Amino acid sequence: MALVDVSRLPQHVAIIMDGNGRWAQARGKPRTAGHQRGADAVRATMRAARRLGIPALTLYAFSEQNWDRPQAEINALVDLLCECLVSERNELVDNEIRLAAIGRLHKLPQHAQSRLRTLTSETESNEGMTLNLALSYGGREELIDAARALARKARDSEIDPNDIDEAAIARLLPSMDVGPVDLMIRTGGEQRISNFLLWGSAYAEFYFTDELWPDFDANSLYCGIQAYQGRERRFGLVLDAHHDVTSTKTRNESERAI
Ligand code: FPP
Repeated sequence: MALVDVSRLPQHVAIIMDGNGRWAQARGKPRTAGHQRGADAVRATMRAARRLGIPALTLYAFSEQNWDRPQAEINALVDLLCECLVSERNELVDNEIRLAAIGRLHKLPQHAQSRLRTLTSETESNEGMTLNLALSYGGREELIDAARALARKARDSEIDPNDIDEAAIARLLPSMDVGPVDLMIRTGGEQRISNFLLWGSAYAEFYFTDELWPDFDANSLYCGIQAYQGRERRFGLVLDAHHDVTSTKTRNESERAI
């Protein structure tokens, strides 16, 4: 069992849930069976994050590029989402979890949008944790939408282009509502960002695992967090060696600066 220091948790964990199809293929099952088991892994991960006290968890549930998959698989993913938005309602309510969603949500079928709206409004005052679902989401698309909004404001003289700074852009990025990503996890053995949270992951620590998403569980999450915490500790030690920094105060200041 991985050990986690609960006093130094990442404040925002983002996960690229990859490997559902391969998990199913390895068992001679249709890809949709992998997505079904993937939903179980979502529940286990959400519970574990909530129990630990992680304030925000963003999951890449459906990318803008996923619209190019076979229609039957898209339908199965949307159906699964709709089922989960009903079956997980009590879990979210009982555990003070706020549901939020980012992405071009207007592209989802109306019934999915409506279920999303129902559960996001029902849980909007929950403060235990934010579960942020990225649906029809793309990091570049989010930046494009923000650029268009800024261009319109400039055209209407609501903003001086010289006043556009990091904060002005971040305010227009729904993914930044829960703050920048501290820890980005990707399952399934690939090591790339695949157009996820491009702005918010600028200073994120990355943790890649070969585990396929349906096999991911609480202990897998702890392993990711342990790796995150280990990297920070190592950085402190390297600084100590190079700069001969021994006092706790100086070391803490160095770590903050990093
Ligand atoms: C990637 O695996 C996963 C997805 C495209 C969808 C993620 C969806 C879930 C985990 C199901 C339920 C989620 C919610 C929020 C209800 P892949 O199909 O690309 O796997 P592969 O790389 O092995 O083909």
